[in-house]
Amino acid sequence: MTDAGGIAVDRLTEAQAKDELARLAAEIAGHDVAYHQRDAPVISDADYDALRRRNDAIEARFPELVRPDSPSLGVGAAPASGFAKVTHSRPMLSLGNAFDDNDVAEFLARIRRFLNLQPEDEIVVVAEPKIDGLSASLRYEDGRFVQGATRGDGREGEDITANLRTIADIPERLGRGAPAVFEVRGEVYMSHDAFAALNRAQEAAERPPYANPRNAAAGSLRQIDAGVTAGRQLGFFAYAWGEVSALPADSQSGVLDRLRKWGFPVQPWTRRCAGLDEILAFYREIAAARAELRYDIDGVVYKVDRLDWQDRLGAVSRSPRWATAHKFPAEKAQTRVLGIDVQVGRTGALTPVARLQPVTVGGVVVSNATLHNEDYIAEKDIRIGDTVVIQRAGDVIPQVLEVVIDRRPADAATFTPRETCPVCGSHAVREEGEAIRRCTGGLICPAQAVERLKHFVSRDAFDIEGLGNKQIQAFWEEGLVRQPADIFTLADRDAAAEAGLAAREGWGETSVRNLFNAIAARREISLGRFVHALGIRHIGQANAAVLARNYQSLDALLTGMRDAADQAGEAWEELLNIEGVGEIVARAVVEFFAEAHNLEVVAALRDAGVDVRDEEAPRSEGSVVAGKTLVFTGTLEIMTRSEAKARAESLGAKVAGSVSKKTDLVIAGPGAGSKLKKAEELGVEVISEEDWLKLVGAAG
Ligand code: IVH
Repeated sequence: MTDAGGIAVDRLTEAQAKDELARLAAEIAGHDVAYHQRDAPVISDADYDALRRRNDAIEARFPELVRPDSPSLGVGAAPASGFAKVTHSRPMLSLGNAFDDNDVAEFLARIRRFLNLQPEDEIVVVAEPKIDGLSASLRYEDGRFVQGATRGDGREGEDITANLRTIADIPERLGRGAPAVFEVRGEVYMSHDAFAALNRAQEAAERPPYANPRNAAAGSLRQIDAGVTAGRQLGFFAYAWGEVSALPADSQSGVLDRLRKWGFPVQPWTRRCAGLDEILAFYREIAAARAELRYDIDGVVYKVDRLDWQDRLGAVSRSPRWATAHKFPAEKAQTRVLGIDVQVGRTGALTPVARLQPVTVGGVVVSNATLHNEDYIAEKDIRIGDTVVIQRAGDVIPQVLEVVIDRRPADAATFTPRETCPVCGSHAVREEGEAIRRCTGGLICPAQAVERLKHFVSRDAFDIEGLGNKQIQAFWEEGLVRQPADIFTLADRDAAAEAGLAAREGWGETSVRNLFNAIAARREISLGRFVHALGIRHIGQANAAVLARNYQSLDALLTGMRDAADQAGEAWEELLNIEGVGEIVARAVVEFFAEAHNLEVVAALRDAGVDVRDEEAPRSEGSVVAGKTLVFTGTLEIMTRSEAKARAESLGAKVAGSVSKKTDLVIAGPGAGSKLKKAEELGVEVISEEDWLKLVGAAG
């Protein structure tokens, strides 16, 4: 859709001109966003200029058709949400969790196994409180603060430089000897005092109070007017780093010392702990001091101190293997069950949800809690009218733990599962051996369709700013968006409509333009996000990424899945061969793409101009194994199997579980059996572990 051509301008009818101007406005806005906010133009400057010239020419012929959002009136992109996007040069990771002492012991044991440590090798970790705020990345070039961003989805955040500059804890300069590039990462938070003062001011101004310091910090940081942020007294703690041209130390604690010298606040409760006992003792010390701190914390973070070990350990999906968050126990409260509703999910799963008398738990007002399924309700004997203990931990959905039986009223009512879907009335069935009841309405069930759309636009999928659950629900009800592709034709249809969105309650020209810009900006999408967005059963973000990495283009994936329907064939074998893809997952994807209506959804998206980017081979140019398929077999004696696999993947190789014609290289240790034999039969190259280490530059 980068073609500026089409019908010659002087032969366009008025209706065609109107359509064309709508299309050009959306397309140019999309390119503006790609260029200005993502720094990732998708067309050449010459093609871009041609689009704008065509727009101008049409407008010159039909001046009455000039749109309020015409590219000729604006100056490039109006940022989708008021903030430009920033791509993190190194992703901002999140942390795995440990909920008790055993989990912490297991965290250390995993590291020990992965690195193949000897019993006498001590694992030293840096422990520090987990601050309950928002992470931010601060980029310093030649010692000067040049850009600050929110975490966003970890790959891409928002440029909040001006707001961060108002935080006194954040130094403008690092002083002499700072590396050319250094990205400091840490947490922006609001102290209890600042929070109380802010809510007093909110109250005085008759504005709603913030629920907790974290929300207040988030709200303060996302102010378009940095002057407002300045008045909010935010604090900052540094605890990590992103892209750096040089590291000032070879340990976590060493880098923290340097950050402190550069003027960053570093957690005063930071300690190097050797081994489990020291770690747990420090955790208990912090837990005891928690109430005295002047800010909220929700656990203790442990990070392996040695940076060479951090490097070797790497990350799984989005959390590093070398760090974990040991969470404080969840907060509990008692309240009454006012009723039990049944919600329908995107796969048709019916989930009973307790409607509760609102109660504050850990600083947040809770009025709903999941009851999981019918068996859970029966097991805990939860009745409407009961007083229950609920628990809320972090961002997870609150749960009902137990009934306070002494407080059960005489008229407490039991819950009877319905055999029909509360939304579409279709049969709701519970398969043998399943805990979940499902609506059989499939495509005709509006609840499922709406939930699928909500999933489609959600943060880890298409991530369309300004198109949240509320808007999807409203657009669905009005019939404006019934399937994913409708989102991408919305702007054109709106331009053609008599009374567009902008004329509606709660919308104006600017918000509509922002929405269309945000949609246009997501026309181009990575294969992994696209697959995740489709909402295939058993395919979450991680599995979608694995499939994307393996098939690399949407067409290859579609062909692969079509061919894999034959379970005796090679395509099915290839799918099963992908590490991390088991039979259940494989069957779910194949079945999904065997359904004509699912293929239609994909085709309609492409017709609507959605462009699924081919997966780039991982950063590994020059690596000898990039793009190759490897199989490890037998005993590895130097590197553990997990480390070898992680290393191979980080160099851009695919690691398969069995040998086939597609295998490029087999690394065989002692005891290798059938896989080695098969490799020899097929003439696949086989090398020893030692050769492998030399090949990837890890020998020595
Ligand atoms: S380290 C690669 N240290 O927790 C490790 N995170 O669940 C990156 N957080 O997104 C994180 N205090 O917002 C780290 N002392 C601390 C932290 C901390 C709070 C937050 C941070 C991160 C989230 C992960």
